[in-house]
Amino acid sequence: MSNDEYPTENPAVVTAGLPYANGDLHVGHLRSYTAADALNRALNAIGQQSAYVCGSDMHGTPVAVNSWQQGVDPEEFALEWHEQYEETFPEFDIEFDNYGHTHDGTNTELTRDIVRTLEDEGYVYEKTIEVAWDPEEDQALPDRYVEGTCPYCGEQARGDECDEGCGRHLEPGEIEDPVSTLTGNPAEYRKREHKFFEVSALAEYLTEFLDGLEGTDNAQNQPRQWIEEGLQDWCITRDLDWGIDYPGDAAETDNLVLYVWVDAPIEYVASTKQYSERVGADTYDWEAVWKDGDGDGVSASDASGGSPDERRESGGEIIHVIGRDIIQHHTIFWPAMLQVAGYNAPRAVCATGFITINGKGLSTSRNRAIWAKEYLDEGLHPDLLRYYLTTNGGLQQDIDFSWEKFADRVNGELVDTLGNFLYRGLLFAHRNYEGRPDVAVSEEVEDRIEEALDDFREAVNEYDVRGIGTAPVDLARFGNEYIQRNEPWNLVNDDPDAAAQVIRDCVQLAKAIAVLAEPVLPGKAEAIWAQLAEDGSVHDAELSAALDAPPESFDEPTEPFAKIEDERVAELDAKLADRIESTASDDEEDADEGTAAADADEGTDTADDDAVPDVEPIVADRISFEEFQELDLRVGRILSAEPIEGADELVRLEVDIGVEARQIVAGLQQLHDVDALPDTKVIVVANLEKAELFGEESNGMVLAAGEQADLLTTHEDAEPGTRVR
Ligand code: 2FM
Ligand code: ZN
Repeated sequence: MSNDEYPTENPAVVTAGLPYANGDLHVGHLRSYTAADALNRALNAIGQQSAYVCGSDMHGTPVAVNSWQQGVDPEEFALEWHEQYEETFPEFDIEFDNYGHTHDGTNTELTRDIVRTLEDEGYVYEKTIEVAWDPEEDQALPDRYVEGTCPYCGEQARGDECDEGCGRHLEPGEIEDPVSTLTGNPAEYRKREHKFFEVSALAEYLTEFLDGLEGTDNAQNQPRQWIEEGLQDWCITRDLDWGIDYPGDAAETDNLVLYVWVDAPIEYVASTKQYSERVGADTYDWEAVWKDGDGDGVSASDASGGSPDERRESGGEIIHVIGRDIIQHHTIFWPAMLQVAGYNAPRAVCATGFITINGKGLSTSRNRAIWAKEYLDEGLHPDLLRYYLTTNGGLQQDIDFSWEKFADRVNGELVDTLGNFLYRGLLFAHRNYEGRPDVAVSEEVEDRIEEALDDFREAVNEYDVRGIGTAPVDLARFGNEYIQRNEPWNLVNDDPDAAAQVIRDCVQLAKAIAVLAEPVLPGKAEAIWAQLAEDGSVHDAELSAALDAPPESFDEPTEPFAKIEDERVAELDAKLADRIESTASDDEEDADEGTAAADADEGTDTADDDAVPDVEPIVADRISFEEFQELDLRVGRILSAEPIEGADELVRLEVDIGVEARQIVAGLQQLHDVDALPDTKVIVVANLEKAELFGEESNGMVLAAGEQADLLTTHEDAEPGTRVR
């Protein structure tokens, strides 16, 4: 890889964390896959050769436990889910160049090969450790077969991860008070021989690697801390009969399989290789991406190996998009393996936040999720969800999904801004000029499009998927303002040349919007492209096409987006609530009958909070005290409150904050008795940027908790203007 700006001379590969082949896909999964898909499409648009690869994660206890619960052979079970994923992803226009799975020949061979190299290079050793054991079943209890207490934070944890507490990877034998998930009995610890990868010897290399790593901040900061605390070596084998056999003589290795986290990321390489073999190395060369040419590993005597800088000079641009719960695997274990096995280091790791549903943790077993299939069965266009998931805050931020918020974004940004501009501009063009008026684009609009393209390129270089997704909407916002300011409908008779100019500009803006919309709204972008009577697919268009003249004539347009009405939102909400409720009562019945409710937890990148209270997860990245102090929080007293006409939720408040009275707009209308608000003490963010909401200036923010907007207040006599610290 290089650290040059995209597009570089090197081929790129974008990967998304592999879904465990063990259950239905939902919005938690779709967030990473749509973000990575959009990033890959955007890289292509700016002229970067890039492939998007992934595959199903077939091994490990996430699959073994679920297949056992259903009494099915794990291979058959995982393959069935794999086939379902292969069908579902394209329905969301998630377009992998290759989608393999970890149980196929390519991955099995490559994994064994890489593990052999780790051994040959002297980085693997054997150690006797204590593993959890179920005495009744007389079998070992790897990973998800055991639950207990995290030794680091004291929370309830599963065998290999503290999924409800500190998020750490746990080594076999670490979990305290272990209980078998097979029988519910306390587990014993028994001595077993296992293989360890000497990650601790690579601390220096990994520190240097992290210094050059791009992507989201959380993927760099958390691992730095882990390294500072001291790296442990990593147990890479399990007592399990489902997985890739440890290479070598079965008798000698006691039938051990590789830990799922060894073969899973290797699928990134295997899948790239399969793609390369399909299209030919002349078109896309997997080795140019993953190997730096000599293919030599790093000897144990030279633990720091080739420096990341050396490796950066050649090789491809490897970009991983993952959930933030698997940062450690991608920034410690994975680059350590790649380094010793002689492969190139990732250029970027982008770790997404979690998704909550109506303010509560997404839970597959409680059915509190938006399922991929169900969303499509509602007849909702996939692009709407792609837009919501990719542009609702930055990649690192958590997203709260509610049908109401979803509809607000769709209606406000896609219907009222994007759709409205395209429809009014193109309808006017068709009716008055049968298409594009025959004049050149004005300098003002050409400059504005250039600016949008620059912003887009910058967003790609910063892995700012939200910026990629909002680029076409921002341009449409300009378009609406431009058409409104120039009023072509008033010019058409009095100054036909001026009217033609405005409409010519609008047609060009429409084409630029189609090009910019392709990464996040591929289906809709294609429809706009066809509407403009453009040849081929917008998918193949480079960014520069945004400034090429569109065809001279096109048909009457249709509205590209339809509003989601309040009744529809209410209906979708009710269905979700019913579904959650009926699952809860089924569970109660199961409990009454004494049966264990199977928890079909699909993956780890979804903040699935089956056993924790219904609260949003805490943001992983901590801020410094200095950063906190930048917030100027003040006690305020509401002087007056009145509903804002036409805005269902908003009220205009006048708030005394000691030094002055401020106008603040807040979404309290439906949740509070507006007449009772005056005289209430509130907490105000006094140094927040001013905003305009529904044409009203909002000079600060009033703090409130939760969906019911429970207002924060003081309980003693702190006067307006008092600083909150
Ligand atoms: O956490 C998970 O859901 C894993 N299946 C992700 C694997 S990503 C990778 F490295 F392969
Ligand atoms: Zn913990």
